Order: sequence, then structure tokens, then C-alpha cells
Amino acid sequence: MGHFNEKGAPRVLDAWKPGEIWKPGESVLVLSSKDVRESISMREAIDAAAAAYASVSDGRAQVPLRTPVQVPARDGVSLFMPGFVPDSHMTGMRALGMKTVSVFPHNPSNGLPVILASILMLDPETGAPACLMEGTYLTALRTGAAAAVAADHMARKDAAVVALFGAGVQARMQVMGLLEVRNLQEIRIVDIITDRARAMADELADIKHGLRVVAAGNARDAVLGADIVVTATTSKTPVFEAAHLRPGAHINGIGSFKPDMQEIGEDTVVRADRIVVDSREAALHEAGDMIIPLNKGLIGKLSIAGEIGDLVLGRVPGRTSDDEITLCKMVGISALDVAVGAVAFLRALAEGRGTLVGL
Ligand SMILES: NC(=O)c1ccc[n+]([C@@H]2O[C@H](COP(=O)([O-])OP(=O)(O)OC[C@H]3O[C@@H](n4cnc5c(N)ncnc54)[C@H](O)[C@@H]3O)[C@@H](O)[C@H]2O)c1
Repeated sequence: MGHFNEKGAPRVLDAWKPGEIWKPGESVLVLSSKDVRESISMREAIDAAAAAYASVSDGRAQVPLRTPVQVPARDGVSLFMPGFVPDSHMTGMRALGMKTVSVFPHNPSNGLPVILASILMLDPETGAPACLMEGTYLTALRTGAAAAVAADHMARKDAAVVALFGAGVQARMQVMGLLEVRNLQEIRIVDIITDRARAMADELADIKHGLRVVAAGNARDAVLGADIVVTATTSKTPVFEAAHLRPGAHINGIGSFKPDMQEIGEDTVVRADRIVVDSREAALHEAGDMIIPLNKGLIGKLSIAGEIGDLVLGRVPGRTSDDEITLCKMVGISALDVAVGAVAFLRALAEGRGTLVGL
């Protein structure tokens, strides 16, 4: 059974009887990380992400740039990311809400992670607060799903070997996403903290029968012969060299999100036959990987073939030959959070997960 009903709406909506469990304006459903985890699969997240991207690229979604608010006393910054996906024509789903991501570097001394995220979903009929969910898991899930949508359109159909840079929170979900769209045989993990790469390789050892997961000795060994290269690090400088890429390789750039961060080198950006971004506006505002080579005149704005949504809508091909080197740079947009969040919210409602709190 597919995830969408004959009307094109997510099946999860079939089970939802508005007003029986949750009434707009009367209560908010609070979902823990575990609740979210149990309420949406990677496959469903990929479908919701594809629909969200399509509505961004056809101009129907509203995705304002994220707004940072500095908290100097704690060296912290909170980012506010609102979004609205109206009646996505692929799913019939509407989603309205906002993600907050706080980066507070002193948190570990209080036993808290540096990055904390939450998502507030609103009822798109009334604007009433509907659901507050823990956002760290959903962020990693939707980022893995987003990268899977890009890889599905841009990587060669027979792509089997992945070089994965970074063995952190995003990296795990990058693997889960790619496993949904390609028949992977080998994953080579590189992290500047080599123990992390080894630990992740051990953790994923039995994830799929026949899949080899190893910690690579260095970037060159990881990239040589790899069909898909994923960068999901906190590095400000390039993590691999274009010279080591095989013809036909696809690169998913996940990590860098500031104009001075360049996780993917200029050599790779110049070598790529096809460049796609998640959002032109966001990528040209936030991604140093794109901004720096553009400012140096190494590439032009026309070098960016389109957005992921253009691929989903069939307006732009992801690749036109098995030899092309393709690159997708994603900075993450709120349309993903609200679209994936809406599925998790509605499923949790339908299955009785979470805690309803009166307003
Ligand atoms: N594109 C998106 O939508 C999106 C979403 C979430 C996070 N991010 C970004 O992705 C990046 C990774 O996030 P995370 O939550 O996994 O962080 P994390 O801290 O959990 O993991 C990052 C890992 O990268 C490793 N690393 C740093 N420099 C490296 C290098 N040069 N080579 C190899 N490994 C290196 C670190 O040791 C660490 O293990 C961050 O920059 C984050 O802001 C992007």
C-alpha cells in the first residue's frame, strides 16, 4: 500500500477525525523525540520532502530566510525558521509551522547538547497552535530524506559505493535515506576524530545484509571509486579533492551553512557538470561552497541548473549521462521541517501518541 490515498493525500489523514482527539485552539499535542521517531518512517519523510521541495520550486510554499537572534551573554544564537506548504499538489497536504534551532556552545557544562531544536506546528485552517515536538531527531530525519530525494534524481541508478564525511548526528540519517533509494554495497566513513568513524562503522555493521561499512583511512581512499560522496561535517574547509572523484560521481553537500564555510572545494564546484541546490535564495545567502566560487567568478549563477524541486517536478534532469559529475548543495529549508513535521503530528494523533496539554 502506498503512502498516499486515491485523492493524493497522505493515508495518515484517512485515520484522522478532527475534533475527536484534538480541537484547534483547545489543546496542543506534545511529542517527545521517541514519539516522533515512532510516528514517521524514512520512506514517508522522503515522500513528504519531495512534495515540499516541489511546492518550493513552483512558488507555492512560503519559506522566509531563517532569522537569527543572538544571545551574547551565553555566546548563543537561536534561529527561527517559519514555513508554509499550502496544498502541495503532490500530496494534498498543508503544513504550517516554525522550527527553532539554538546553538549554545556552553551547554555541555550544564549537561545539555550544544544544539537544541523544537518544532511548533500550527493548524493551517485556524492558525491555532497544534503540536510542539522535539526537533533534533526530525531535523536529522528530514535532512536524510532531503539528501535521498537529491540522490534519487542525481546519482547513477547503479550507485553502490558511498564515501561519507562526518560521523555525527546527520551522517547516520544520511545512510538511512540513501539506503531507501539505492542498492548500496559499501560505505566508507571518514571523520577527523577517527574513533567516531570506527564507532559508526561498528554500529552500522549489520544494518543491511551484504552491506560493507568501514572506517576509511583518509579522504583519498574514501573518494576513489565512490559513486556517491556525502559531506556532513562541521568543517569550514574542503574535506576532499576533486581530483579523486570518479566520472559519474554524485556529491551531496549537507554540512556548511554560513558564507565563510566551504566543506566542498572550489575544485569540485568547478569540475561538477551539474549543480543543484535545495533553494537558490537560501544557498546563495548561506552556503560558502556556492557563494565563494561565485564571488571569485569561478562559476556564474547560471551554473546552478536548478533546485531539487525542479528535479521532482521534471523541469530539470538530475543527470544526462553516466559520466557526469553532479553536485547538490543543501542548507536546509523550513518547508521540509513543516512538511515532515505535519506527517509526524497527524500520525501521532491518529495512533494516540504524545501528551495533549490544554491551552
Ligand atoms: N543541510 C541541512 O539541512 C543540515 C541539517 C542539519 C545539520 N546540518 C549541518 O550539518 C553539519 C553536521 O551536523 P551534525 O549534526 O552531524 O554535527 P555533528 O557535530 O554531530 O557531526 C559532525 C562531525 O563532523 C566531523 N568533522 C569535522 N570536520 C571534519 C573533517 N574535515 N573531515 C571529516 N569529519 C569532520 C566531526 O568530528 C563530527 O564527528 C553541521 O554543520 C550542521 O550545521 C545541515
